[in-house]
Amino acid sequence: MGVDNEIKGRLALITGASGGIGAACARDLFAHGTRLALTYSTNKDSLEKLVSELQGQGQDVMISSHQCNVAKEEDLQRLFDEVKQQHGQHPDILIANAGYGKRVSSILDLSLDEWDYTLTVNLRSSFLLTKLAVPHMLSQHWGRVVYITSIAAGGTSINGCHYSASKAGVQGMSKNLASKMGKEGITFNDVAPAMITGTGMIPTEENLRGTPGDVANIPVGRSGSTGECANVVTMLCRTGYMTGQSILLSGGLK
Ligand SMILES: NC(=O)c1ccc[n+]([C@@H]2O[C@H](COP(=O)([O-])OP(=O)(O)OC[C@H]3O[C@@H](n4cnc5c(N)ncnc54)[C@H](OP(=O)(O)O)[C@@H]3O)[C@@H](O)[C@H]2O)c1
Repeated sequence: MGVDNEIKGRLALITGASGGIGAACARDLFAHGTRLALTYSTNKDSLEKLVSELQGQGQDVMISSHQCNVAKEEDLQRLFDEVKQQHGQHPDILIANAGYGKRVSSILDLSLDEWDYTLTVNLRSSFLLTKLAVPHMLSQHWGRVVYITSIAAGGTSINGCHYSASKAGVQGMSKNLASKMGKEGITFNDVAPAMITGTGMIPTEENLRGTPGDVANIPVGRSGSTGECANVVTMLCRTGYMTGQSILLSGGLK
């Protein structure tokens, strides 16, 4: 069988495209000719601006936008229904990027509600999105799933154990799916970023000052950019021989 790593003309669903990393992924995949289905939860303006920016580039590539709270199963089902209606198919590429992490460092300050909500947004939604996406990918023997996890999955974090657990859960799920579904033409990988500025989570390097993520502690001496994150995501979409991997994107932080 020939190797098919072409993403031009494929349909990518990116959750949380209203945020920093999601928007950068949308820009980069769009530049590679990928059709887009993009979601926001609360920040409609941000997604509208991104869509106008991309549509202003004059390429004849379809983009749809969808409101979706990934914590709600019914929103995820509606999202897939809308995508099918508007694009005539379910996604070939899933970028599960939408994420949440209220900075609560100490377990002593962490409520059960905060724990549950973090796992619901980051882990449960990744499971539900994948379950909705896999049937179409199976039917065409081609699919790419990329989860945005975090350096926190390995323990290092400016955040608490709730966030680490939610992202480590996604990594475990991804590796299991990769080994179970490799023969089906679907790859599963995750990008684990650290200290990516220009995002709602970390607007500037100032927000890291005095934390373990302070640029003084980052071997390359700076924070990462959303564009660098998008580069890795696109590479994974274009590299079908790579599956079951967690790629740490951290400027050398361990
Ligand atoms: N920035 C970093 O250094 C860093 C490091 C490690 C991992 N990450 C991960 O990267 C991903 C993207 O975050 P970001 O850094 O780009 O931050 P961001 O700019 O704050 O973006 C977060 C995105 O997630 C969406 N979102 C949050 N809760 C949601 C919910 N319940 N339902 C649907 N969408 C929801 C937001 O939507 P609305 O704004 O529309 O509500 C927004 O689009 C997250 O998974 C995050 O955990 C980031």
